[in-house]
Amino acid sequence: MNKLEIIKTVENFVSQLLEKEGSGHDWWHIHRVRNMSLMIAKKEGADPFIVELSALLHDVIDDKLSDSIKMKPEDVEQLLEDLQVENVHIKEIIRIITSISFRKRMEVPLKTLEAKVVQDADRLDAIGAIGIARTFTYAGSKGHLIYEPKDFSYKPNDKKSGSAIDHFYEKLLNLKNLMNTSTAKEMAEERHRLMEDYLKNFYHEWNVSGTKAQAP
Ligand code: ADP
Ligand code: NI
Repeated sequence: MNKLEIIKTVENFVSQLLEKEGSGHDWWHIHRVRNMSLMIAKKEGADPFIVELSALLHDVIDDKLSDSIKMKPEDVEQLLEDLQVENVHIKEIIRIITSISFRKRMEVPLKTLEAKVVQDADRLDAIGAIGIARTFTYAGSKGHLIYEPKDFSYKPNDKKSGSAIDHFYEKLLNLKNLMNTSTAKEMAEERHRLMEDYLKNFYHEWNVSGTKAQAP
């Protein structure tokens, strides 16, 4: 199989696997991350084949996927072996997809440019207008609240989990400073500003209801 056929096969496989995914890891997230990765790779001089395959596969082993569709790294390895991808490339792709997720950032530092590119593309998809949409989709899928004012004593849902708005402060507003490449750093600026504007407007509208909303 040539590189183009390998990529097409993996693309078909992942699009079918994630077709019905409802927590923000649907096929269109993968599609955007793949295209964004390739764009950054071109500017930064990263290997497009490794970058594209890693981007396509970057979420198939994610813990947030339901058990029925989540793959093990060994399954991904097998898939790539079946497609006769070179062994050194398989190792690199597995290393990239097991290490790019935010929560594993501390455990596995990224070494290669290809890994950094895919991580940046994934993070760019978590911020800005699309990032905001994904945050509320994820929160909805978990039954989390949109927002919960901190100083409001009546809590109809005594939920332990954070709200969607909390997630901006836990993760989204930090991502701009965590970008690896200068291409992604530049792109993150506008998306970051949009989130800040969004939060300002959100609190403004919320306050019309008389319960005080504010940044934590
Ligand atoms: P990624 O696909 O970028 O690796 P994650 O697996 O961490 O991201 O999460 C998928 C999407 O859901 C992202 O847009 C992320 O910001 C969002 N998300 C993750 N955790 C939460 C949360 N606790 N509340 C709201 N949104 C979340
Ligand atoms: Ni992702």
